Amino acid sequence: MTSLASTTNHQIRLARRPVGVPVRADWSFTAEPVAPPERGGVVVKTLLLSLDPAMRGWMNEGKSYIAPVAIDEVMRAGGIGVVVASESAKFAIGDHVSGALGVQEYASFGERQLGRGELVGIDLRVGSPTQWLNVLGMPGMTGYFGLMDVGQPKPGETVVVSGAAGAVGQTVGQLARIKGCRAVGIAGGPAKCEWVVKELGFDACIDYKAGPVKDGLKAHCPKGVDIYFDNVGGEILDAVLTRLNRHARIIICGAISQYNNTEPVRGPANYLSLLVNRARMEGIVVFDYAERFPQAIAEMAAYLKDGRMKSREDVVAGIDTFPETLLKLFRGENFGKLVLQVAQA
Ligand SMILES: NC(=O)c1ccc[n+]([C@@H]2O[C@H](COP(=O)([O-])OP(=O)(O)OC[C@H]3O[C@@H](n4cnc5c(N)ncnc54)[C@H](OP(=O)(O)O)[C@@H]3O)[C@@H](O)[C@H]2O)c1
Repeated sequence: MTSLASTTNHQIRLARRPVGVPVRADWSFTAEPVAPPERGGVVVKTLLLSLDPAMRGWMNEGKSYIAPVAIDEVMRAGGIGVVVASESAKFAIGDHVSGALGVQEYASFGERQLGRGELVGIDLRVGSPTQWLNVLGMPGMTGYFGLMDVGQPKPGETVVVSGAAGAVGQTVGQLARIKGCRAVGIAGGPAKCEWVVKELGFDACIDYKAGPVKDGLKAHCPKGVDIYFDNVGGEILDAVLTRLNRHARIIICGAISQYNNTEPVRGPANYLSLLVNRARMEGIVVFDYAERFPQAIAEMAAYLKDGRMKSREDVVAGIDTFPETLLKLFRGENFGKLVLQVAQA
């Protein structure tokens, strides 16, 4: 068994609630010894952490789908790790696992947490550790259930997805193609748009930084929009609302353009398009589908294996870079799923 007695756990905690874009002073950096696992529990060494736009919301006070991170609490983060000490029959030393590890080098899980399924084993023969945070992980599941359950795509329909080169977006567009739809992405900049079309096989991609999204939609969605998978909200949502088909479905997955607002979010001006087109807009929270993840993971793993699904991750090393690395999401500097590497596998 690895000796943990003299091992230090470096952690990043929320020091105060940010106003607007988070800054380094919103975080505190702590270190404490790693305690041995309690009876029935395990200690996990963090290898990779998932950096997600939702983290910005978790820093705010107020009611949401999940409680805010408390002041001085270790920042919440999903991740992949390896079991380094075990007093549990469920996990052995050396097992690779996925769970809410937090922004820290070591995470402890008690018997009760393990009983609730807070840690799940991952099979590295099915996908790499970074793929387990991307298409086989939370973002992939969000894309899968958002598109399939809420969007209910039919062959021949046109699916538009914003944040197309990001974690959720890459899954949505590729899955739309697999299901026989026309997939049109919206992303920032020529490099991302080119990758989405040439590598991922989207039918087209609109560079929202290069010109009006409305013009791009007119050019690339000649038959209108049947499904819009919204990752960004704001003006892009408003533009897509003007191109809806009858009975269109809009999946409200996220609104990253609004997350650092210091003023209240403004609703879409063009929402009456829902009335005219008998369309609907519906939110999704991925955790609602947890019981069905294994089936969706198996389907996605098969697409990865047969080459119909590709995945791209953007890995940045060093837990200390967390405050700045997180901001890449809001600046569009991540290309693919943003992952923080805490330790070598
Ligand atoms: N509902 C759920 O259960 C659930 C689960 C996971 C994620 N989400 C949501 O899904 C969305 C995508 O998450 P992700 O993890 O896949 O992130 P991501 O797309 O990998 O990264 C965020 C991307 O958003 C784009 N962006 C940033 N600011 C923008 C702005 N002002 N206008 C337009 N685009 C902007 C950037 O791409 P460009 O360079 O293309 O601008 C950036 O790379 C987020 O809104 C997130 O909150 C929801």
